This record gives sequence, structure tokens and C-alpha cells, in this order.
Amino acid sequence: MLTDFVKAWNQGQNVKLYETENDAIDHEGSLWAALRTAAPWDGKDLLDLGCGTGYWLPRYAQTARRVYGVEPDTSLLEAAAQRTAKAAVLHGSAEHIPLDDASIDVVHARFAYFFPSPNNDCTAGLKEVLRVLRPGGSLVVIDNDQENGDFADLLKAGNAADHQGSGEFILRWWQKQGATTQKVMSSWTFNSPEDLAQVVGMEFPNNTAKTWLDAHQQENKLSYGYLLHVNTKKPWSQ
Ligand SMILES: C[S@@+](CC[C@H](N)C(=O)[O-])C[C@H]1O[C@@H](n2cnc3c(N)ncnc32)[C@H](O)[C@@H]1O
Repeated sequence: MLTDFVKAWNQGQNVKLYETENDAIDHEGSLWAALRTAAPWDGKDLLDLGCGTGYWLPRYAQTARRVYGVEPDTSLLEAAAQRTAKAAVLHGSAEHIPLDDASIDVVHARFAYFFPSPNNDCTAGLKEVLRVLRPGGSLVVIDNDQENGDFADLLKAGNAADHQGSGEFILRWWQKQGATTQKVMSSWTFNSPEDLAQVVGMEFPNNTAKTWLDAHQQENKLSYGYLLHVNTKKPWSQ
């Protein structure tokens, strides 16, 4: 039973448009470089937790030793399994990871599960991630920076981050777990202003992005601030 699974309102409802969103992410490579520096995965075993349709699995598989994708939404699993023969895709969730103890070096959770708020306690998933990590291995959570960049302005305008916890609450929560947090500025770059408007409309339903979109009608790019929360499992010796 995957008791902690919540269907994603964006990818879970609109796979094609979420693909357009992923296509737009980080053309400059600053997020990718920061991920690699935070917890390198070349020659190591990496788990993409909440991998959705597995968009990022082939990128990890270029240099990792083994890549696993774990996803609770059965409607996304097949697409994830089709992405690359170099990754194993498994049905599971943050609370129920179908992998052995101490079998993974790096776990990425990209906008998946780790949305700590006063109403949402993520400690069960964190405990499970620490179980599958090898000593010295790291969990890297990719999250929104609610203060910096155009996307942060959109979040503020739509009060869209409220249900995921305020920026201050999230930072304190990760600090309490012993994690470090770093800011990364990147962008979304779309093929056309129409694609940008559609994706922003998906992320900010009920016209909450209308004022921003009206003011940026010709643009196909927006700046996007990320936060990386990095939680490293203590080595055996400590
Ligand atoms: C916004 S989508 C992101 C998907 C993917 N990480 C990406 O960047 O393309 C969020 C994903 O988290 C998954 N998810 C929801 N609840 C989860 C849980 N308890 N454990 C792991 N993943 C979960 C959803 O099913 C969905 O695939």
C-alpha cells in the first residue's frame, strides 16, 4: 500500500505539457552543474525518487553505474520504463522504496514528495531514503526558491506555494534534519511564448498567473530560482 502517494496535479494530469516543461528547464546547465557538485554520481548508483515519466533517467544513465526510478503513480510507470533500457523503473514511493538497505549513493527527489509544511510531515520518507542510502551517500531535493526569479514572483502572486509550506518553514525543516541548502539561479526556455503560457497556466491554474502573463506576452523565457536541500547520511565511522 502506497499510503503517502498524492497524484501530481501537473504531470499526473497533463503528461504532454509536463514534458514541454521539462524540455524548457535549465538550458544554461547551472542546475545540472550544481547537482553534480552537490553529490556526484559518475560511476555510482543513483535513485530518482518520484521519477514521474522518467524524463531525467537517460541523463543520469549516461555516467552513473546503475540508475533506478521509483514512482507511485501507476499511470506514469510505463512511460518511465520506456525511457531507457539503462534504468530500472520500480513501483514504490518515498515511504516504500523497493530497494535494499545501503544500496544507493545518490537519491534525487525533483519536486516529488518532499514538501514539508505544518500539515505535511515528510519524516517517514526521509527515514526510508536514509535506509537505502549508503553511509556517506546523499539525498538531494530539488525545490523552488520562493524569493528569487520570475517563477518566485509567480508563486507569490498566486499564493501557490502556501500548501507546500512557506519558504521559512521549509528551510527550518531541512536545517533540523541536518541538511544544507543552496540557491541556484537558472531559467525555463521554451520554443515559443505560447508554450510558456500553456505551462505557466498549468502550474498556476484558475488564472492566477494572468497579470504576469499579460505583462510578458512576447517572452519565451523566464528566470527560475531553485533550492537544493542536501542531506548526507553519516559515514559508518561517525
Ligand atoms: C511534479 S511530478 C515530478 C516528476 C519528476 N520528478 C520530474 O521532474 O519529471 C511529482 C512526482 O512525484 C510523485 N509522487 C507523489 N507522491 C509521492 C511519494 N509519496 N513518493 C514518491 N513520489 C511521489 C508523483 O506521482 C509525480 O510523479
